[in-house]
Amino acid sequence: MGKSVIAGNWKMHMTCAEAQAFASAFLPLVASLPSDREVLLAPPFTAIATLAQALAGSGIQIGGQNVHWDRSGAYTGMISAAMLQEHGVTHAIVGHSEPRKYYSETDEQINLRARTAQKAGLIPILCVGESDSQREGGEAERVIRRQVEQGIDGLDPALLVVAYEPIWAIGTGKTCGAAEANRICGLIRSWVGYADVVVQYGGSVKADNIDLLMAQSDINGVLVGGASLDPVGFARIANYQVPESA
Ligand code: PGA
Repeated sequence: MGKSVIAGNWKMHMTCAEAQAFASAFLPLVASLPSDREVLLAPPFTAIATLAQALAGSGIQIGGQNVHWDRSGAYTGMISAAMLQEHGVTHAIVGHSEPRKYYSETDEQINLRARTAQKAGLIPILCVGESDSQREGGEAERVIRRQVEQGIDGLDPALLVVAYEPIWAIGTGKTCGAAEANRICGLIRSWVGYADVVVQYGGSVKADNIDLLMAQSDINGVLVGGASLDPVGFARIANYQVPESA
């Protein structure tokens, strides 16, 4: 198994000044991370340049919160892979449940975004996950499988991260149990068909549940929302420790 990927998604939080302050507090706490992991932050587009400068030379990487499938054009509010890469961005989140819900993004569009990202040299972080009612109705596996299969069509799984984010666990404080998260991440791994694909768990990940999540055999990373806004808490997440026996 390759390196784990610990990602923070700031969503619509953090001005440039706040991003700068975050970096000053965060960097000393992640100065000697173990070499088995990558850590990245996905700030709002406006804070990318500032954060890239603040993190330069630290090894902490930057992700975009989305990416368009076209190189340029009349797409108000969107951003291209080249625009992100100009600032050293290495990853792009696609298919997060928020744009799926608020902007009605489809699996087909998400796949186009992921393909464009990969072709440009960005690692797509493809988010998948079921809603509360889909889980209640026994639909979770079918929904996730469809999102995975359509999302990864035409992609190289070696240059991909898949994030399992049950919608009912996002921002709610309700973490999916570690064993169930691991089971679904294992299924995702088998549907991708590449044993070494990085599969993250996301949904109310915090400093106090990170060690248990990262001890699971099929979870090799996390996508963190709310808890990535606090430099001390996110540094603890980045410094997760898995007991030797796990
Ligand atoms: P949360 O968000 O950690 O605040 O639950 C996770 C996400 O949306 O990626």
